[in-house]
Order: sequence, then structure tokens, then C-alpha cells
Amino acid sequence: MPEHPKILINRQEIDRAVERLASEIKRDYRRKNPLLIGILKGSFVFMSDLVRRLDIPLEIDFVRLSSYGSGTESSGRIRMPGKMSEPVEGRHVIVVEDIIDTGLTTAWFLRYIKRRKPASVALCALTEKPARRKVDVKIDYLGLTVPDKFIVGYGIDYNERYRNLPDICYIE
Ligand code: IMP
Ligand code: MG
Repeated sequence: MPEHPKILINRQEIDRAVERLASEIKRDYRRKNPLLIGILKGSFVFMSDLVRRLDIPLEIDFVRLSSYGSGTESSGRIRMPGKMSEPVEGRHVIVVEDIIDTGLTTAWFLRYIKRRKPASVALCALTEKPARRKVDVKIDYLGLTVPDKFIVGYGIDYNERYRNLPDICYIE
């Protein structure tokens, strides 16, 4: 059983990062009616805070991705149970992620989206852990860089727990 999570990035710092990301996205997408696709489950809190700061026309979709294998490490073999409900062809897509760790999950999904002929694709990530990157993924809108610790809270889980913590925390 892990110890009680400790705060790494508090809710005020998260707010400032989300505000900055929203103003960058507004600047770039004002007349593009972007389609924001959140990767479940981890992006649900971030997505809801982000879109409430985006006072521009936009649409939202979610997809569930999971990687085969167990433990806290992505295997790189990705599964997408269920479908996207919105067509992406011709759309300006922004993929919204909670955390980019090895990058394997995101790289897989970006390839999947690009095959479906979007007008453009960008990646918006709340956090990234550069120490553990295995594949190169270009993050167009990055919230916060985090150290090589196991992160929970603000939507992010450990075995489905702690998603409801309002701060970004770490466990050891
Ligand atoms: P990647 O494919 O290794 O980049 O990992 C992608 C997914 O693994 C993220 O979207 C998270 O769901 C999960 N993940 C990676 N690092 C952490 C962490 O520190 N805490 C909780 N989940 C994580
Ligand atoms: Mg995730």
C-alpha cells in the first residue's frame, strides 16, 4: 500500500498553467472550431477546466485508450475499446492528455488520428515526464514538467484511486 499522496503541484499552480494553455489555444484556434479529443480517463478533470476557459467555438470528444500488460509502465501495445463519436476528417484536432510518460500511448493515437485525414493535429498535455520518454512526441501546448515520480490527482490515478484529489500529488 503506498503512503499518503504528497502535493507536488498545488491547485493554484495548476490553475495558472491551465489559464496559460487556454490563452495559447484561443490565440491559435479562434476561427477554426477545433475538435478537442480527451484521452480517458486521466484527462477528464483537465479537459473540463480547460474548455471552460476557452470562450471560442469548439467541439469535444473522448476516447478510451489502454495498453496491454500490467503495472505502471506502458507496454506500447495500445487498445482502443469503443469508438470516437465525432468524425475527424477535415477537422482541426487537439489531443488532450493528462501525462506524457514514455510517449508510446500518445504516439500511437496521433498516428491513428493522422490516418483519418484531419485538417491539422496538435497535442496539449497537462504534464510530461521527460526523463522517461521512449518515443519522440511533439507537445504543442505543455502545462507542467514533472520529475520522475508516480503522479496522482487532478484526474490521474493509481489503480483507479486518487483521481479526485484537487492537487497534483506523488506517491512513493
Ligand atoms: P505513456 O504511454 O508511457 O506515455 O503513458 C501514458 C499513460 O500512462 C498516461 O496517459 C497515464 O494514464 C499513465 N501514466 C504515466 N505516468 C503516470 C503517472 O505518473 N501516474 C499515473 N499515470 C501515469
Ligand atoms: Mg492517460
